[in-house]
Amino acid sequence: MLFTDIIRAKRDGGELSPEQIRFFVNGLADESLPAEQVSSLAMAVFLNGMTFEEAATLTIGMSQSGAVLDWSDAGLDGPVVDKHSTGGVGDKVSFLLAPIAAACGCYVPMISGRGLGHTGGTTDKAEAIPGYNTAPDFETFKRTVKSVGCAVIGQTADLAPADRRLYAIRDVTATVESIPLITASILSKKIAAGLDALVMDVKVGTGAFMPTYEKSVELAQSIIATAAKADLRTSAVLTDMNEVLGTTAGNALEIAESMAYLRNDRRDSRLDDVVMALCAEMLVITGIEDDLDRALLRCDKAVTSGRAAERFDQMCVALGGPAGFVANYEEHLAQAPVTKAVHASGYLAAVDVRAVGNAIIELGGGRRKVGEELDLAVGFSDVARIGTLLDSETPLAVVHAASEDDAALAEQLLLDACTRREEPPAERPVICERVS
Ligand code: URA
Repeated sequence: MLFTDIIRAKRDGGELSPEQIRFFVNGLADESLPAEQVSSLAMAVFLNGMTFEEAATLTIGMSQSGAVLDWSDAGLDGPVVDKHSTGGVGDKVSFLLAPIAAACGCYVPMISGRGLGHTGGTTDKAEAIPGYNTAPDFETFKRTVKSVGCAVIGQTADLAPADRRLYAIRDVTATVESIPLITASILSKKIAAGLDALVMDVKVGTGAFMPTYEKSVELAQSIIATAAKADLRTSAVLTDMNEVLGTTAGNALEIAESMAYLRNDRRDSRLDDVVMALCAEMLVITGIEDDLDRALLRCDKAVTSGRAAERFDQMCVALGGPAGFVANYEEHLAQAPVTKAVHASGYLAAVDVRAVGNAIIELGGGRRKVGEELDLAVGFSDVARIGTLLDSETPLAVVHAASEDDAALAEQLLLDACTRREEPPAERPVICERVS
């Protein structure tokens, strides 16, 4: 089979056969296909789409491109369940939700991704914790899930290797925003992780990959229908990404915010709403709770009692990170040499979140090419919420940068990304809709 024929067929709007899709998946997994051919096909799919059958074949093929986990002989006394987000800026939900769900009786083998396009990646953020191994061997991963209840790791060479390769190429070729490619990317990892159930956080707004609300609903439906084909019970919550989630964006800064949350010191209410809604959904979809309100109370208690923080500490140590990290995170996280408060006036009315994500890439906190090293310390803290009255006391955000020049550039990019008005904007809920 010639791969150029496959590219040509998709370029001309044709439907690929299951054999052609499997040839593509094999070539991704064994790296026999060069990046230029992979990116050409990704662009052809981006432009011409895929049928449901094509996307399902790609998903299942990628999920079987490496090892597939089986938890049936692990002796677990609770369901194996995970959450995945379609990608956002400031989205540190995984670091909170995984230990909370574990403290509520779930087992969460979370295989996360690196930064993609303008969005940040959980794997990159986890690497801001010194010593934390995001690519442990299978035994360590399974042992951690079993003993702690959760393990947040990155994609390994063994699980869904076809997605690992395609993901890295999509990241730098402007081919991310495609419903079949996002569906296959997310679900291949989740199916390979051997889950009983999955809860999706599908983002909506200026920082989401989908350009409209309707497209985000379509993405949620595509993921749910494709997951059903692989017998993976899935529901989705649509959440707002018209502004940074929480008060920080950037790898180490987001870890710091997550630790303050787990200590119950500072819980930004929008971030809290998203964490609680998704976590409660996990308890309901797995039958741990049959009522959403009771599930919400149980999740909250896991934080206020300190049990979620304990689980995080246990996970951190099991994966090679420092002991007592939640209590002493400030000692361990890298800090950027330059900080600069960005001031403006008026009410913050709207944010181009994609531009904020791109500003973090400009600072060195995200990748421009495959495999690039990141500066994990850079980004934004004290990010103002939409509706905030900005003045000389209340900044738009504080930039954390490697140099004065970088800080000045990020300041300008942030100012350009934010619309200010004299009147306060209407309030928007952060939880938009549930799709199942
Ligand atoms: N998250 C993923 O894992 N893959 C995508 O394509 C988008 C978000």
